[in-house]
Amino acid sequence: MTYQFSDFISDDALARVNGKSGLHSRLPRVAYTDPGFQRLEYERWLDKTWLFVGRGAAMPNPGDRITVPGHPYILVRNASGAINCFQNACRHRGVRLMDGGCQSGKTIVCPYHHWTYDLDGRLLGAPHFGGYNVQDAPGFDKADRGLKPVRCAQWHDWIFINVDGKAPPIEEFVAPLAAKFPGVAFDKADHYLTIDLGQVDANWKIATENNAEPYHVPFVHKDTAAGQPLDGHYMVDDGPVLGCAVDVPGSTYTNKPGDNSLTNLDMSARYLLRTPNFFLTSYAPDKIIDSLILPDRRDPTKCWIQTAWYSTSGHPLTEREVETWRDLEQRVADEDSSIMAAAQDGLLCDVMDDGGALSPAWEACLIAFYRELTTALRK
Ligand code: FES
Repeated sequence: MTYQFSDFISDDALARVNGKSGLHSRLPRVAYTDPGFQRLEYERWLDKTWLFVGRGAAMPNPGDRITVPGHPYILVRNASGAINCFQNACRHRGVRLMDGGCQSGKTIVCPYHHWTYDLDGRLLGAPHFGGYNVQDAPGFDKADRGLKPVRCAQWHDWIFINVDGKAPPIEEFVAPLAAKFPGVAFDKADHYLTIDLGQVDANWKIATENNAEPYHVPFVHKDTAAGQPLDGHYMVDDGPVLGCAVDVPGSTYTNKPGDNSLTNLDMSARYLLRTPNFFLTSYAPDKIIDSLILPDRRDPTKCWIQTAWYSTSGHPLTEREVETWRDLEQRVADEDSSIMAAAQDGLLCDVMDDGGALSPAWEACLIAFYRELTTALRK
């Protein structure tokens, strides 16, 4: 079945999203709950562009592989260090090859009947397929039975896939976002921390909204972000790049050897999304943070969230410094996770069919997000 945008969003609802009567609204609740709408998101947008799906730091050595959270794909670092993406299905009877975590080894072995693949997806062996101790069989050619590749690219440590294979080069995709971080030494980005929230009880767009807007910060992160006052924030809306930023006068925070004085995010920051899902945050002067927010392909009321921290100072953090960051950021992440689940629960109420009302001061970046989304889905 092929869906159209108008199957889910009426002209009246779209007019509210577009602010035709003054205030802008979110999308109506069907956009956060309906599997058909999520399928439309993939067909019209997420499969046609670059989707941020993982990090090289999570699979540092040849032979390492990880799954893409919520998606039927695996990422594999091959013998020469390049990263491949494959559909997570054995070519015999389709069994899932991996289920989370990081595995390692020179070959990928299906757990069911031990068909074995190399790190570039070629089928090496199909034990007893043609008979006891016989692999060959009439019409069976191993060259035709390799893992199905998905277009994959890496920009610094960040890994992206493009399912339809037609998106422009990754450098072109990332360029508008990179331009918003002048002076950030991406080539020095050294991973030091990942916080994995796993599956979260919220649609991926609720998590995206929460990451982009500052309106909730003084309430949800009253203590953990006490040093980032709401009135220091401003909106960013520049085509496919949107979000917010905050300037904290005198902000010069940087880790010093042995420093564990970090108690809240009292520093200037930029929280920017390159749509659809590549979030980068800079904390002045030498930290860069990504947020990996992925839909759950099985359930539109869930998503998967990880966040990773990188230092660009050229100096590794001490264990004590890392633990200081972990303690603070885990608290921030838990605060966000709880409020996102509450936002999803509110969608059980039909009053949210009208999409609510967005603050023109603090949620203009969300208006920009819906503009990007609705433009893509209506094509
Ligand atoms: Fe993988 Fe049979 S399904 S070897």
